[in-house]
Amino acid sequence: MEDIKINADNKTQRYEELLKVLASLVEGVRDEVAAMANTAALLHETMHFFWTGFYRVSEGNRLILGPFQGPVACYSIGYGKGVCGTAWKRAESVVVEDVEKFPGHIACSSASRSEIVVPLFDAAGAVRAVLDIDSDRLAAFDETDRLMLEKAMLILSKEIY
Ligand code: SME
Repeated sequence: MEDIKINADNKTQRYEELLKVLASLVEGVRDEVAAMANTAALLHETMHFFWTGFYRVSEGNRLILGPFQGPVACYSIGYGKGVCGTAWKRAESVVVEDVEKFPGHIACSSASRSEIVVPLFDAAGAVRAVLDIDSDRLAAFDETDRLMLEKAMLILSKEIY
């Protein structure tokens, strides 16, 4: 595989380039773990997040840690628990400017200050996984992140679900 270089300095442009790269990176990759692993690596390397990864809905109604980049993380999150479990329950993205102000936030790392969680849906509309991205800065995520990461998760979920 060739090296991937995304050089745009404006956030929207970086995401736009990233979306194009992602589409070709996961095209035809049917294996969920493999596609998630490269998606996490691409996002993490391009956007320089603190933690970038997936939790997958598993038996027992829990989210289980999936492919990720960054420090070690919690293995399992209950339905409706923390930011990830809340995004799963609401079936929509959740942006948290200050994790300390989010009731029930699960602190996998004390360095995490803000967070965005975006669900992945299958063709039937069920939440199958969530993308969780943490920053060590307050209010690191805005509407651009939400919009672009939702587009990214649409590209990925079409390939794997
Ligand atoms: N903060 C998350 C837990 C996962 S880790 O940060 C990687 C939450 O409250 O859902």
